[in-house]
Amino acid sequence: MKVQDKIIVVTGGGNGIGRELVLNLLTRDAKVIAIDISKSALEETVELSGDKKDKLATHIVDITNKAAVEALPNQIISQHGVVDGIINNAGIIQPFVRLKDLDYEAVERVMNVNFYGTLYMTKAFLPHLLTRPEAHITNISSMGGFLPVPGGRPFMGHPRLPSSS
Ligand SMILES: NC(=O)c1ccc[n+]([C@@H]2O[C@H](COP(=O)([O-])OP(=O)(O)OC[C@H]3O[C@@H](n4cnc5c(N)ncnc54)[C@H](O)[C@@H]3O)[C@@H](O)[C@H]2O)c1
Repeated sequence: MKVQDKIIVVTGGGNGIGRELVLNLLTRDAKVIAIDISKSALEETVELSGDKKDKLATHIVDITNKAAVEALPNQIISQHGVVDGIINNAGIIQPFVRLKDLDYEAVERVMNVNFYGTLYMTKAFLPHLLTRPEAHITNISSMGGFLPVPGGRPFMGHPRLPSSS
């Protein structure tokens, strides 16, 4: 998709990869709606957008809140007209411990953001995206999802991984 003049929603746009996606889309003349749970993080992204500020809108939303996510398409479309794509980027990592040491609270927190947050966003925007002549849904994942290893910490010197020497 050529993103010039398209309207793209990016979750987790307040930091890290999401922020870089927002800033990169702005340099390509897309209009960007950055979603994040953190107001101060979004404010920083707006600050970094410099002279592209007028093409960036922000919404403070916790993507684990289904009702809040379901309200987003109407809020965005009423302000900006359409949505051409969403990038499901917001995500958190689990503590790098073995399953026996991982409590349900941590598992549920990760599932709520990474799985349900992505599902709520996709279900909420899909009916509108299907009416567009061209639309994209992009999900940011992790190599850890394709190649899980014990403890979940493949490239950071996990003490129990066999050494190569
Ligand atoms: N950084 C890496 O090395 C790496 C590796 C593999 C995968 N990823 C994936 O890339 C994505 C971005 O990672 P990152 O390192 O940039 O993360 P980050 O922690 O730097 O940024 C994530 C952003 O998402 C926001 N966020 C968290 N929970 C949220 C929620 N419930 N609702 C709305 N916003 C929420 C945070 O406030 C933050 O601004 C994640 O899905 C992560 O799993 C990152």
